[in-house]
Amino acid sequence: MSPSATSLRTHLCGELRAEHVGTSVSVCGWLARRREHGEHLAFFDVRDHSGVVQCVVDRTVDVRSEYVVRITGEVRRRPEGTTNEGLSTGEIEIGECVVEVLNVADPPPFPVDSRADDVDENVRLRHRYIDIRRERMQRNVRLRARINSAIRRAMEAQNFVEVETPFLMPSTPEGAREFLVPSRKEPGSFYALPQSPQLWKQLLMVAGVDRYYQIARCLRDEDLRADRQYEFMQLDAEMSFVTQPDVLAAIGRAVTAAAKEATGQDVPPIQQITWREAMERFGVDKPDLRFGMELVELTDVFAKTEFKAFASAAAIKGIRVDAATYPEQAAWGRGRLDAITDRAKQLGAKGLVWLKVTAESTLDSPVAKFISADETAQIIARFGALAGDMILIVADDWTTTCEVLGQLRNDIGRPPVHEGPYRYVWVVEFPLFVGIDAATGRPRPGHHPFCHPHPDDLEYLDTDPLRVRALAYDLVLNGWELGSGSIRIHDPAMQRTVFNKLGISDDEADRRFGFFLQPFRYGAPPHGGFAFGIDRLTAILAGEENIREVIAFPKTQSGLDPMTNAPTKVDEAQLAELGIRVLPPATK
Ligand code: AMO
Ligand code: AMP
Repeated sequence: MSPSATSLRTHLCGELRAEHVGTSVSVCGWLARRREHGEHLAFFDVRDHSGVVQCVVDRTVDVRSEYVVRITGEVRRRPEGTTNEGLSTGEIEIGECVVEVLNVADPPPFPVDSRADDVDENVRLRHRYIDIRRERMQRNVRLRARINSAIRRAMEAQNFVEVETPFLMPSTPEGAREFLVPSRKEPGSFYALPQSPQLWKQLLMVAGVDRYYQIARCLRDEDLRADRQYEFMQLDAEMSFVTQPDVLAAIGRAVTAAAKEATGQDVPPIQQITWREAMERFGVDKPDLRFGMELVELTDVFAKTEFKAFASAAAIKGIRVDAATYPEQAAWGRGRLDAITDRAKQLGAKGLVWLKVTAESTLDSPVAKFISADETAQIIARFGALAGDMILIVADDWTTTCEVLGQLRNDIGRPPVHEGPYRYVWVVEFPLFVGIDAATGRPRPGHHPFCHPHPDDLEYLDTDPLRVRALAYDLVLNGWELGSGSIRIHDPAMQRTVFNKLGISDDEADRRFGFFLQPFRYGAPPHGGFAFGIDRLTAILAGEENIREVIAFPKTQSGLDPMTNAPTKVDEAQLAELGIRVLPPATK
């Protein structure tokens, strides 16, 4: 008997096989398709989440597309020559069928199969309950459940304890814009919805929980993209009495278990690179290791250059677009090269030099005359460049040079995120601060302000804060940031120092985060943690390019729900009760 059997069905449609021939069965589902066959018979393809089965019925039965039916009959082998190898149930059919209509249905707004992939997303989302009937969406919904379950098992096997944390909380300094919830009892006061359970999980460490995890819903009012929704799910975890390798190992096990569940394949040990190396080699902090085209150092090659644009630059680097790997790039004309130069400028470069390697091992470029024979030879050697290859060079400060080339590398060479192989990488030693805020003259936090500075860099906190690394790390998969974490500050004095650096005075810190700082005076263990995005991991493992495809009821790119029409207006009485008056929209 099928584990899915109920009082109405003995099996799921997709479960029936040749071994069931001769058994009497009942299945329930939706009519996917009917084909008339001769004068008396019709073939019904009946669908449930497990698949489709062919039923042979009397053609006088009035059943239309998406009617809900119960079919009872006998499983029999399909006649010679009519088996369907593309279908798991293709060897059999149900014959002698009795059809019960459990419910009628209006014609669906779009075909309930792969043709709906081309239907406008708003239409799919408006009728998401029909969209999810489709095989692709059923697969995604179920894969997601299996991934969640594998993550839970992996966490529990490591003695992590699931603790639920509040949704209604004060506003916190995690960086993203928050969703606010007005308080009815305290008009004019607001709760914030959690950007993540960050504060709670750290308090759970003070509370002696030792190892916490939660599959947590997080909310952030950000601009939406393929990898971003207002609400999303994290595997959120925190551990006490650990150093960085302990956290990476524990989280690595959860990700690996999820990946194994989804793909059946083992994940090889995940390599680590430092943030600086990621920037040097790939020009981004979330490097996509599926392709080459790494940044190559040229500063020394041009140490004595006569080319003015390069003469005073702090960092000169280039990437090689390989004529063999990217044959279409070999034919780059001036139009394309001008567009790439414009793109580089848009990204902040002062310009872009392109050099095409000729069959004679010279360089073809408008600026070739400024590049000496010796420099030419060194460039070609350093890239191992061959005839037809294109070399793109940027000269600027270190950050601009790396970032511009990193972006060009991605623009030119990066495959869609969901295309295999899967290349995971830990990026470690993120900087504690990123840049100086022009308005305040203060450093800006690289992550959230609770990350522990690298112990080797404490001496630079005052003298050269941008040089200070954090015990902060990201997990990256195919160029997407899957997750981040850090070893936290557990010493209240250190926390105040970092807040002060960020321009948050002791008074302000007490006022805003006193509820968080105070507990640290009562014996906070050394601790650290991590969170990764389950939507992102699931999308990539499901072979989807957009996290909306693995979320049952997502918002559109513009943040709307076409099915419920949320967000909606509320009536005056409700607003009055909350003490809220809505202003007319600001004129732009
Ligand atoms: P962070 O802000 O980097 O870290 O978030 C962790 C991971 O959550 C996912 N994520 C998102 N997924 C979908 N839509 C979004 N809008 C979105 N925003 C974030 C990403 C991201 O890598 N509290 C810290 C973690 C820690 O330090 O322990 C945090 O939330 O996959
Ligand atoms: P210019 O000297 O500004 O006329 O620039 C000559 C060429 O060098 C143009 O192709 C510019 O795009 C390029 N160029 C100028 N500045 C830079 C730079 N900092 N890095 C790379 N290329 C540059």
